[in-house]
Amino acid sequence: MNAPVNKFVNDYAKSGTARFHMPGHKGRKFHGLEALDITEIRGADYLFEAEGIIAQSEAKMSAAYGSRRTFYSAEGSSLCIKAMLGIVSRSAKGKRITVAAPRNVHKAFINACILLDIDVEWIYPKGEFTSICAGSVTPEDVEKVLAETEVDCVYVTSPDYLGNLSDICGMSKVCRKYGVPLLCDNAHGAYLKFLSESLHPMDLGADMCCDSAHKTLPCYTGGAMLHISSHAPEEYDGYAKEIMSMFGSTSPSYLIMESLDLCADYVSGDFPRNLERTIKRVTACKERICSFGWQAVGDEPMKITIAAYKSGITGDELADRLREYGIEPEYSDTQYVVLMPSPFNSEEDYKKLEKAFSEIRQPRIRLFGDFPAIPKGIKRMGIRQAAFSAQHAVNVEDACGLVCGMTVTSCQPSVPVAVSGEEITTQVIKILKNYGIDRINVL
Ligand SMILES: Cc1ncc(COP(=O)(O)O)c(C=O)c1O
Repeated sequence: MNAPVNKFVNDYAKSGTARFHMPGHKGRKFHGLEALDITEIRGADYLFEAEGIIAQSEAKMSAAYGSRRTFYSAEGSSLCIKAMLGIVSRSAKGKRITVAAPRNVHKAFINACILLDIDVEWIYPKGEFTSICAGSVTPEDVEKVLAETEVDCVYVTSPDYLGNLSDICGMSKVCRKYGVPLLCDNAHGAYLKFLSESLHPMDLGADMCCDSAHKTLPCYTGGAMLHISSHAPEEYDGYAKEIMSMFGSTSPSYLIMESLDLCADYVSGDFPRNLERTIKRVTACKERICSFGWQAVGDEPMKITIAAYKSGITGDELADRLREYGIEPEYSDTQYVVLMPSPFNSEEDYKKLEKAFSEIRQPRIRLFGDFPAIPKGIKRMGIRQAAFSAQHAVNVEDACGLVCGMTVTSCQPSVPVAVSGEEITTQVIKILKNYGIDRINVL
């Protein structure tokens, strides 16, 4: 194995050195992993000024992903998303930037807009969409916005939480035509690089993307990567660490960095083979579940998303039934249940899942009259201005016609229902209620 961060920390843990440095546990067992939890001692490198073992590990990960540079985050894609937008802002040399983005962004994007005072030109898909997670747009939708509006970059979320993939390749061609960078929230798609034919944004033409290693690779929660492609403006490389350190802690977790380091070794070795085998098993499992009458949606080979409502049961109810079988899904809402397998699931796990889906009753009644379609926001004020304005909480029923203060997202999947500065309409109220949100901050 070639994992320099892990080697350093394991050697240190065995050395018997008296730890007169942070953290306070001094490497003694308290939770369990203390021996390997260190700080920036001599030789351990600094995440945001990496020149030693962390830089070596990042270079190895970069080679595995075919990026020009890859930077580690111990604070998830949430940090990388702020960093990507910060890098584009930095390269605008003081000008306030405008970003074109489909509405199904993660909350971290909104936080970046608030912190960096970014204006957003929302891109809406042609058809109606009824889940805040979905709503991916086409290259034509992107081109329409670029032709009509002056924006500094395009930002897309692909895969989305339900497993839909956008046409990153098509969008990157459009972006290049208009001379703007394409940024991709690939939080759910770290594994896409290692398919027999890569579907990773770095191979499809994106300029920058973030991958949550912890979502699909064997990495501790919080481990993520920011990739910069070889065709992105060169100045991005120099800005990346500087901007990441603006938003990140000065005490990044070594446990998470060690875990990323091991992943760099794993993806460069056994992972593609394991992934291929797992995809075959996941595909067979999906087919089996569908043979019982359930409907699977989404394009991602490694997600099983069931449109429960089409079988007459809400996603939340289906998730509860699955729990009775000892299965914990990744996500559920009124419509969907999302399951996320990985090569680390056992054959027993798949058997359990197939048994559950074969036995859970499908009432096959029409559950909902209609799902409120996600509306086009009516902008009354900038996101930052609204987020920092004086505001008070009201019941959502009483918010009609008022302006949203702090952006409202459902707890999971953290996609905004009402964005700071937008008018609350009856349609927005319906959606808020659909996601179980009762109170909202208004100006
Ligand atoms: C689409 C999407 N983007 C970004 C994030 C943030 O990722 P992280 O949890 O690694 O900070 C999430 C988290 O669930 C997500 O679903």
